[in-house]
Amino acid sequence: MQMSNRISSFQCSPIRRLVPYSRDAEEKGIHVIHLNIGQPDIKTPKEALEAIRGFDRDIIEYGISEGEVALRRGLVRYYAKYGLKVSQDDIMITTGGSEAIQFVFMTLCDPYDEFIIPEPYYTNVATFANIAMVTLRPVTSSSDDNFALPSIAEFEKRINKKTMGIMLCSPNNPTGHVYSQEELRGLLELCRKHDIFLVVDEVYREFCYDGKSFTSILSFPEYQDRVICIDSFSKRFSMCGARIGAIVTRNREVLESALKLAQARLCPPAVEQVAATAALNAPDEYVEDVRAEYERRRNVLISRMQRIPGVRCSLPKGAFYFVVDLPVDDAEKFAIYMLRDFSYEGCTVMIAPAEGFYVTPGLGKQQARIAYVLNEKELVMAAECLARGLKAYRRDVMQIKD
Ligand SMILES: Cc1ncc(COP(=O)(O)O)c(C=O)c1O
Repeated sequence: MQMSNRISSFQCSPIRRLVPYSRDAEEKGIHVIHLNIGQPDIKTPKEALEAIRGFDRDIIEYGISEGEVALRRGLVRYYAKYGLKVSQDDIMITTGGSEAIQFVFMTLCDPYDEFIIPEPYYTNVATFANIAMVTLRPVTSSSDDNFALPSIAEFEKRINKKTMGIMLCSPNNPTGHVYSQEELRGLLELCRKHDIFLVVDEVYREFCYDGKSFTSILSFPEYQDRVICIDSFSKRFSMCGARIGAIVTRNREVLESALKLAQARLCPPAVEQVAATAALNAPDEYVEDVRAEYERRRNVLISRMQRIPGVRCSLPKGAFYFVVDLPVDDAEKFAIYMLRDFSYEGCTVMIAPAEGFYVTPGLGKQQARIAYVLNEKELVMAAECLARGLKAYRRDVMQIKD
């Protein structure tokens, strides 16, 4: 039987593609340290867990398509804490931020319309764009520049009649860059000039480091018609499996249109919405403690990685990822080598080759995305494995004597 040409053209997730190699390593008894995926080991707030345990309805019914009122009201209060004024009608609950991104593409774009996106970018956006038959036009950001926003002129060069919007992620996955108020304002002005949307994925909003302040795209009411925020409970409350996210926009036409998609998929997960509503009642210290923990983990891993000969990475200011330049010919080959051919004291490391985080073919070949979500002990061991693994790979595979 033949599968569709469409599905054949989709990419496998570069974050998960090497899983068969890690399973084989684990079957051999090797402990694989997963730096490839943003699955935190942080506990979900007890408020959320207790809400699930106490779920005492007799039927797990369909809910309303745009999401439970209690959850949307809770989110209104949550945004208000950051000085962001939205109403419950500005919020649609989705099955994770992932569905929110899909809904946004499907709502704003016809087939072959275009979205401009800085690369490297959150790789799953490629599949969501493919589903909606949207073309992603990349603007390349560079590690030489700490992945800062490329100039507004570079974005403007890529705008044409098919451009429906610009999509950003701040704090950024995979680079850790946090876009400044000035950068956002510059893009908003550009969007206004060309009458297009600015969609910003803020699922890592709280995770900013070194005192860096975060500017939400929702804090520019003067541009509100063209602003869409993607949000998620996954990382903020370490409840990735709950699959609760949101589209937030004061442009009612966008939400009214997206509702057709929401109605077709009936409703977001019911029990998890109860958990998410409860998570919003977790004390403010919960998120602050998690933020501080990631900042410590970042420092532990980055300081060790920077000491490895030939490795280049700068201190990311947010989220919990960074992109590292590796002294290898091919980061994917190296990633496979680490899983298949290497171990140190019974451990090895899984990384995500960065090529799949670029739209432009060939870019990111010597880069990897690293997630620093694990505890310090694991991160110390991971850095040691990477240092030794790189040395062994360069000697045995690249035939280089360091
Ligand atoms: C930038 C970004 N957006 C969206 C998502 C999807 O999150 P969710 O679990 O809410 O679908 C992720 C997940 O890693 C992400 O990193």
